[in-house]
Amino acid sequence: MAEQTLFIVKPDAVYRNLIGEVISRFEKKGFRILKLKMFTFTQEQAEKFYDVHKGKPFFGELTSFITSGPVVAAIIEGNNAIATTRIMIGATKSFEAVPGSIRGDFGLGFSENIIHASDSQGSFDHESRVAFE
Ligand code: CMP
Repeated sequence: MAEQTLFIVKPDAVYRNLIGEVISRFEKKGFRILKLKMFTFTQEQAEKFYDVHKGKPFFGELTSFITSGPVVAAIIEGNNAIATTRIMIGATKSFEAVPGSIRGDFGLGFSENIIHASDSQGSFDHESRVAFE
């Protein structure tokens, strides 16, 4: 069943010239790119985007990193998009992510972990609204 999801190529990956590498993995997997947008999160937008993490000890670090440079947001479509994309990106802690996953192949960080992807239909609705507003 065709489903949509959102991913964000984070500032560390943009800085390291990995935009094409990341997007091409989703194209090669068979997903269709529906929307693409390069922008820099404002503080207000970042706080709204990550509002489920508000109050957590890492919230300040998280918003300061995501606003630190340009990102690329994508909405993609394909079979089982939300769960499959989460498998493709790998574990949140890049240093624990298995090789073959995006974080496992390109990162070692925790806050700086290359890519974000929606983890549910609810987060896709919320995050895509904020990113493409
Ligand atoms: P992301 O998938 O964008 O979702 C929330 C982000 O918070 C996560 O990736 C990490 O980059 C970041 N983060 C930093 N510290 C923590 C932490 N202690 N627990 C969870 N997420 C963290």
